[in-house]
Amino acid sequence: MEQIKIQGKVVAITGASSGIGEAIAKHLAKLGAKVVLGARRTDNLKTITGAIIAQGGQAVYKSLDVTDQQDVASFAKFATEQYGTLDVFINNAGLMPLSMINAYKIKEWHQMIDVNVKGVLHGIAAALPIFEAKDSGQFVNITSVGDRWVGPTSTVYSATKFAVRAISDGLRQEVSENIRVTLVAPGATQSELAETISDPELKKQAIEKFRINLLPAEAIARAVAYAIEQPADVDVNEIVVRPTAQKSF
Ligand SMILES: NC(=O)c1ccc[n+]([C@@H]2O[C@H](COP(=O)([O-])OP(=O)(O)OC[C@H]3O[C@@H](n4cnc5c(N)ncnc54)[C@H](OP(=O)(O)O)[C@@H]3O)[C@@H](O)[C@H]2O)c1
Repeated sequence: MEQIKIQGKVVAITGASSGIGEAIAKHLAKLGAKVVLGARRTDNLKTITGAIIAQGGQAVYKSLDVTDQQDVASFAKFATEQYGTLDVFINNAGLMPLSMINAYKIKEWHQMIDVNVKGVLHGIAAALPIFEAKDSGQFVNITSVGDRWVGPTSTVYSATKFAVRAISDGLRQEVSENIRVTLVAPGATQSELAETISDPELKKQAIEKFRINLLPAEAIARAVAYAIEQPADVDVNEIVVRPTAQKSF
């Protein structure tokens, strides 16, 4: 079976303004993909897109809030308008405001559900019609090792990632055999994710306990590239990537 080349693929990435999304955009662009970056911080997107183009890559960006279904639909449409098609949609946007349940940070629970779960569903609703119309395409959903592990303070975050794992596997079974669904579950990785923890003491503890031995974000980008470049009849369903030293969660 013919190897799929990343060269020329049109890849849309949500949450591409920092961390893992930024690394995926830069890595895939280096491999010849045409990348479409979305997030709310357009200043960051402009800088990242500029850096990709300066290195000879092809990239465009668009302001995106994944909690807004229409905005995500416009983002996918923008990709097809810019580059003529859409081949891969990467649901990466997410936040992780860890807290104990009895801290009742209900607004943050809602934010996590809105971005981490509804945002992914919006991405699927935006890209699946495009994939079904041409009977090909690939979703890459970035979850977390928290899609299979839960501990104190990660209850709601893990619940959102468990949900995305369920959505990914259900989607895989429902779609045509020419549409691929990949879940990539990172362990602790360098990014701005801990900045979303609002309790300063908890943030300090989380950084000391969990945010050590961090993977470079490029390690996750390489895993994503591996899943994309497989032959068309190979659907890499799940990749879990931890720092070697991350043993207990
Ligand atoms: N770093 C880790 O250790 C780790 C481990 C496991 C899983 N993950 C997952 O990896 C993904 C990326 O996170 P990261 O670690 O790279 O953290 P990050 O640096 O904080 O990046 C999060 C990205 O999500 C975007 N985002 C947040 N809310 C959004 C919204 N409403 N609409 C559009 N974009 C939004 C942010 O962009 P704007 O703020 O500009 O909108 C940003 O680009 C997340 O799904 C996270 O759960 C990370």
